[in-house]
Amino acid sequence: MITAGPTREHLDPVRFITNGSSGRLGLAIAHQLKKAGASVTVVLGPTSEQPSRGIKIHRVTTAREMNKKVLHYRNPDIFIATAAVGDWRLKNPSPKKWKKDKKRSHIIKLIRNPDILMNMGTWKEKVDSPCLIIGFALETTRLIPSAQKKCKEKNCDLVIANFPATFSSDKIKSVWVEKNGNVDSLPQLSKNIFAKKLLEWIVNHEPI
Ligand code: CTP
Repeated sequence: MITAGPTREHLDPVRFITNGSSGRLGLAIAHQLKKAGASVTVVLGPTSEQPSRGIKIHRVTTAREMNKKVLHYRNPDIFIATAAVGDWRLKNPSPKKWKKDKKRSHIIKLIRNPDILMNMGTWKEKVDSPCLIIGFALETTRLIPSAQKKCKEKNCDLVIANFPATFSSDKIKSVWVEKNGNVDSLPQLSKNIFAKKLLEWIVNHEPI
């Protein structure tokens, strides 16, 4: 199971908060896993990217919908969280369009969304599942310590740290931080080559 793409949180029926994720990386990984014979399900946020044939796709919009879908299908052999999940949503989204009126400013209150990867990590620990859990870490500073922290807190086997530039590119430069403390810096690679490398890593670490 893979999460991919952005999530979207509405302010009103017209406007929303989101991010620049295309979902391309998650779909490239899904393609490689499928080619290797896996049965692949992707929970995909709003994107126009087209998945390869033979991959089961569940389209969702919000972080809560993504969380619900993932937890519904819980018990995968491998869980890969590539999605750029929005951490917050509007406390009170408006059912009607915000009109300009005389308002010169808007104060919005945001509340926390569920952390899907954290939920899967907690589930793995609770049921002592052999599920391989791979997370990503999008960072602008302190790449390695942040990825190490996320790896531990979210109970991952591997966390792949990368930069916001990954969003708008066909390439990815990354640092791989393993649960056992190994750290490996990879050069900039196309998302397809990166996905093949991740497949190799999975084959070497697959639960028996
Ligand atoms: N993630 C998730 N659900 C969230 C937030 C993040 O499943 N609500 C997953 C992402 O898919 C990614 C990992 O957690 O695999 C790290 O996401 P990232 O955005 O780098 O960091 P956060 O955990 O949100 O923390 P922060 O924004 O403080 O860096």
